[in-house]
Amino acid sequence: MLDYITDKVQDENRQGEAFAPFAGDPNAYKKKFYIESYGCQMNFADSEVVASILYKEGFGATKNVEEADLIFINTCSIREKAEQSVRMRLSQFKKAKAKKPGLLVGVLGCMAERLKTKFLEEEKLVDVVVGPDAYRSLPALVNEAEGGQKAVNVLLSRDETYADISPVRLDSNGVSAFVSIMRGCNNMCSFCVVPFTRGRERSRDAESIIKECKELFEQGYREVTLLGQNVDSYYYTADNSQPVTFAMLLEKVALISPLLRVRFSTSHPKDITDDVLHTMNQYENICKYIHLPVQSGSTRVLQLMNRTYTREWYMAKVDRIRELIPDCGLSSDIIAGFCTEEEEDHKGTLSIMEYSRYDLSYMFFYSERPGTLAARRYKDDIPEEIKKRRLQEIVDLQHRLSLESNQKDLGRVFKVLIEGNSKRSDKDWMGRSTQNKVIVFPKNENALKKGDYVHVKVTDCTKATLMGEIIN
Ligand code: 5AD
Ligand code: SF4
Repeated sequence: MLDYITDKVQDENRQGEAFAPFAGDPNAYKKKFYIESYGCQMNFADSEVVASILYKEGFGATKNVEEADLIFINTCSIREKAEQSVRMRLSQFKKAKAKKPGLLVGVLGCMAERLKTKFLEEEKLVDVVVGPDAYRSLPALVNEAEGGQKAVNVLLSRDETYADISPVRLDSNGVSAFVSIMRGCNNMCSFCVVPFTRGRERSRDAESIIKECKELFEQGYREVTLLGQNVDSYYYTADNSQPVTFAMLLEKVALISPLLRVRFSTSHPKDITDDVLHTMNQYENICKYIHLPVQSGSTRVLQLMNRTYTREWYMAKVDRIRELIPDCGLSSDIIAGFCTEEEEDHKGTLSIMEYSRYDLSYMFFYSERPGTLAARRYKDDIPEEIKKRRLQEIVDLQHRLSLESNQKDLGRVFKVLIEGNSKRSDKDWMGRSTQNKVIVFPKNENALKKGDYVHVKVTDCTKATLMGEIIN
């Protein structure tokens, strides 16, 4: 089923990625764990927290599922397809369990709460079920499960942010890292299951964020992406001190070093302020790129989605961004075929995409999620063929917009942070511009390394990639 389409290959490629930060580590561990992650960047960041917690308790990671004593799968519930992939994986692990007595399987993350009873009792697929706010209890739960009990903790918390835990990095490129700055979401968009699976919004201690970013910089990282479901509503007050807003946090991170790039995701259009835009302008190292999900271009549908803005209001926000940061990269999330969507509404989505000239979009068709406001209030009444056709039109349009946006860059020079070899050839580097566009260019004889900045002139492009050459 066509459910999920994205231009951003990177994210799709990471689905199901296994985690092994301790490859070659000579330490002896009491048990080895294997962890696989699905879903959004927050989930990948959470797996790094989980790895850190397990590591402290004497567990070591392995990338080889066959040598694992514990298998964890960090799950996502956002669309039906994500849940289906996890179910398939779990049935494979069930077979592995049959062959290896003592092997424990755990479900972590967003599916935990929703499906705990099903997994544990009805299908007997797993031994441990742990929700996103209960990772600290994981070692104790593993102990319980070893004693033959089914171990569950899916309690959501009002204050857990794992602020004091230094995530163990999935050191795939050693250049860019994700830093979680808040958890949960209070927005209650009617289609979205996140407020139910990840709980109430809470902001992480600003000092612990700065400390983590500083440490990353000292370890050689050159880019941090501040993560949250709704970063612009970040707000932290320590005892007796001034509250820290998102704009202030951005500035604090930017001040760590001009060599450290700062990105952030995701921005809810209703919460991104002029303050944030001004701060972005003030610091060269805050990347000029905003992920600003529109979801729909129809005011009527936006209202049903509970997005709290109108079409015109969103367009005015885009105008404001273009006015203050003329060269800002812009991307979006779009849902086709939400409940009651008419052809006119769909046309509104297409036209708002044209208006916003997104460089990139994540495009989905609506899939009803149990327990959400939309599931309770509205009928999922758009036939699948119509959803698919509309989604395809959205995708086709985005492809054209991405190509046009890239063609505009031909002949321009960008400062690029080198992330590593290009996917196709180790004779080419791959990096990104401040606008988050991928640029590939020949290494030549230059003594550059990943983590270095270089100026690249764009000579060619596809809809997904800019190609260029280093200029001195
Ligand atoms: N159906 C389709 N897409 C959804 N998203 C969230 N919930 C659903 C759903 N029920 C999309 C939204 C969101 C992105 C992370 O996933 O576009 O911004
Ligand atoms: Fe879901 Fe809306 Fe929160 Fe995003 S802002 S996580 S879409 S409820």
